[in-house]
Amino acid sequence: MTFLSLSKIENLLDFPICYYSYSLYQMNLTERDQSHIWHPYTQHKTAAVPIVIKKGKGALLWDENNKEYIDAIASWWVNPYGHSNTFIADAIYKQLTTLEHVLFGGFTHEPAILVAEKLIEILPKNQQKLFFSDNGSTAVEVAIKVALQYFFNKEEQKTTIIAFENAFHGDTFAAMAASGISFYTQAFQGMFIDVVRIPVPVKGKEHASFDALKHVIKNKNCAGFIFEPLVQGAAGMVMYEPEALDELLRICKENNVLTIADEVMTGFGKTGKIFAMDYLVENPDIMCLSKALTGGTIPMAITTFTQDIFDAFYDEDINKALFHGHTFTANPTGCAAVLASLALLQTQEMQDHIARVNQKHLAFLEHIKNHPKVATTRVLGVIFALEIKTATSASYYGTLRNKLYDFFIENGIILRPVGNIVYILPPYIITDEQLQKVYEVVEKALEIA
Ligand SMILES: Cc1ncc(COP(=O)(O)O)c(C=O)c1O
Repeated sequence: MTFLSLSKIENLLDFPICYYSYSLYQMNLTERDQSHIWHPYTQHKTAAVPIVIKKGKGALLWDENNKEYIDAIASWWVNPYGHSNTFIADAIYKQLTTLEHVLFGGFTHEPAILVAEKLIEILPKNQQKLFFSDNGSTAVEVAIKVALQYFFNKEEQKTTIIAFENAFHGDTFAAMAASGISFYTQAFQGMFIDVVRIPVPVKGKEHASFDALKHVIKNKNCAGFIFEPLVQGAAGMVMYEPEALDELLRICKENNVLTIADEVMTGFGKTGKIFAMDYLVENPDIMCLSKALTGGTIPMAITTFTQDIFDAFYDEDINKALFHGHTFTANPTGCAAVLASLALLQTQEMQDHIARVNQKHLAFLEHIKNHPKVATTRVLGVIFALEIKTATSASYYGTLRNKLYDFFIENGIILRPVGNIVYILPPYIITDEQLQKVYEVVEKALEIA
């Protein structure tokens, strides 16, 4: 290995290709990707090679051949304010060149304090304490560990977690245990914490859900109930009403079961309010935040708690403390991205964009709902979903899903159907023309379904 002088690498930053040996230089990016990289949710033997994205701006992405794509799912629901947003980028740069990182055990910093203060202003009123981590799964992991330790610290035997059928809460172990989409978790059955699933209270099934909750609470020592409020994202944007969730929360409260709202997907405007929980009367004990928290720039997550939960850990006895932490906890650069993202979310312009996308979705729903190939449609905030009629139930990554996905990509639209469900969850700043193109391609896709 040869070592270069610092003056040389400053030039190389503009020409990173110079870092590579001649043989690597001969390979294209796809070939180099396939040499060493293991992608998420991918069967590498059968999957198409990944598309190399070079650039993003607003709702658009461009690949290495300059083909343009509309990012109609905000890159897995993280990016509401548009790609390469200079307002967030400037805040990040300023923070990076002031204090990029400092350990959070025994130290603190103003960006984290400001994030806590700003979030407390907009969270449900009972949320008082914040714990930082790195992604949606770790936000959930912290929530579940805290719910279990809360009762351990009080010397109460409560170890069961209640979750919805077909829930998705992430891929770390407790998050996986709470998730109910079987092929994500089947290899690990028998290794999980105790989770009991109840039906989602979709229209007409509310009472089955209430009864199942009462039954499990009666028969098990339940510590917590975790749920995706109002919209189950990975299940295919399954929606249910706030009144039904309020009733489930009331049952939990009456029975001293902690409630955990996983707002990793729904948070920060997606449902039309800042949080999906803002549609409810009841407040949750714990909330999980991530994804749009940093506007899709830097991985970060926050789990929030009531004072009562914090107090159960506050003791002379060190064993009652929460012994959980991650190296990059409350990373100041991530906090700067959160502050810039919250500032954008709270502008009138951004609220107008959310309302505009919602109106467009509702108009498209009216237009498409009676199409002979459409079984059901639904909209909440900037989330639109339609279910395509199929003779048999369509599998999650089955033939229909793959055919639709390929059709969307060919047409320059990034959409990832879930089985026979096509959903749209665009950046809020998507233009009317771009949104119209998405709708037209979705309508055309019905012909090939
Ligand atoms: C509701 C919900 N919780 C948790 C997660 C996991 O988040 P991450 O992928 O950042 O670990 C997701 C991811 O889609 C999610 O939708």
